[in-house]
Amino acid sequence: MVSRVIPVDPFDLVLFGATGDLARRKILPSLFHRFQIGQIDAQSRIIGTSRSQLDRAGFQDLVASAIREFGQAGETGEDDIAAFVQLLDYVPVDAKGDAGWSALKSLLRPDVVRAFYLSVGPGLFPAIASRLSSCEIATADSRVVLEKPFGHDLASAQALNSALRAHFQESQIYRIDHYLGKETVQNLMALRFANSLFEPLWNSTHVDHVQITVAEKIGVEGRGEYYDRSGAMRDMVQNHLMQLLCLTAMEPPSRFTPNAVRDEKVKVIEALEPVSLDNIARGQYRASPGGTKQDSYLDHAGNPTSTTESFVAMKVEVANWRWAGTPFYLRTGKCLRARESEIAVYFRDPPHNIFAGATGVHGNVLVIRLQPDEGITLRTTIKDPGPGGMRLTSANLDMTFADSLPEAGRPQDAYERLIMDVIRGNQTLFMRGDEVEAAWAWADPIIASWEQSGDLAPQAYDPGSSGPDDSLLLMHRDHRRWRGIGT
Ligand code: BG6
Repeated sequence: MVSRVIPVDPFDLVLFGATGDLARRKILPSLFHRFQIGQIDAQSRIIGTSRSQLDRAGFQDLVASAIREFGQAGETGEDDIAAFVQLLDYVPVDAKGDAGWSALKSLLRPDVVRAFYLSVGPGLFPAIASRLSSCEIATADSRVVLEKPFGHDLASAQALNSALRAHFQESQIYRIDHYLGKETVQNLMALRFANSLFEPLWNSTHVDHVQITVAEKIGVEGRGEYYDRSGAMRDMVQNHLMQLLCLTAMEPPSRFTPNAVRDEKVKVIEALEPVSLDNIARGQYRASPGGTKQDSYLDHAGNPTSTTESFVAMKVEVANWRWAGTPFYLRTGKCLRARESEIAVYFRDPPHNIFAGATGVHGNVLVIRLQPDEGITLRTTIKDPGPGGMRLTSANLDMTFADSLPEAGRPQDAYERLIMDVIRGNQTLFMRGDEVEAAWAWADPIIASWEQSGDLAPQAYDPGSSGPDDSLLLMHRDHRRWRGIGT
């Protein structure tokens, strides 16, 4: 097989929060895999920092065990790990104090790409950005990478943006939404804009409605404290589902460049109608007494009377020429029946049924599956095979990428792609500051209206189900049905 790997230039990547959960689970194993396949060469360096008083050897041990625990199964050979840890260095740095900054500066080389990855809470972004600048550690070409959550509401996102822009140009700032790094999310753009079949039908004349589902099987488990302050609306809808909505609904950008793509996404967010409470279902998973063995949300929330939602479903209208009259239904939740994420585009029924008496003439459904089995399916109506007259049935044209494109190998983890894009200086798959603010400006009134209504209690749903009854009613009211989860 011809190698598709294009090596990146040597770099110095400084990872703040290097001993944290995300670094160990995602960032460091992703860097390892890109090294293993030859995209990162031995001239690059990864410098871990955090408050922990580790030395280089201690950090190397920590990273080696993180790779063994969280790396891709079958791809964590000890020789490769031993070679990778040679790239590592470590300096303890006090993000809010003086300690460690000059030691960090002395480790950086003048003539390679320099990136600072802030895998820390947003409360530390301003302090770190300010030190990187005042200690002259960041150069005019350096990149700074920020993890979500990017703020808690519009005001806090604006404050973060202005704190960052005091030291960095927008072209240096990479705000991560890891959903944008998923293979199928990018395939959505390829499907829409590299094929002539779909785009002429991609509008309210032909599309009845769209369903976007991000269902998770896991609950909040050890993240209860963070999650209880966020809920599904802030944790998933304002960012991940919003990005999926934008890529589905946006106009074709004139070219595939960072600002052309992001301009179109912002226009979608700005076209969203305010969502009224009767178009939203909120839920919280609760094990029925003596029923299932699974826990309730409240067992993990750290607050026995928490009214934070672990599930949201809503009907959203994109008020523009293309989409007026075609609702987008969004749904996400924890502790549901299965881990399943997809975008389903429901086309309208054919205008006339020529098969008198034959039932089953339905509109096509195009399903773009993000996980678990990445691929694309088109539901079509065909003749039911065999004798007995003209009977109709549904069958899927199915493309599961792992089967259709086996030579592509294992799909890259979203972080692998996104970190390489930072080094290459490509911002297409990162959120621009105005985009994040527009998403908060849309989400804030929804959250505020829950608070103002005084009726904050989410509806209980069974762990392992497909969410609360209100979510089903939201669809029934419109004479539609959700696609099944895990069926
Ligand atoms: C994160 C959320 O951003 O995305 C988590 O904070 C969620 O709550 C996760 O579990 C889902 O990501 P993925 O890639 O597993 O679908």
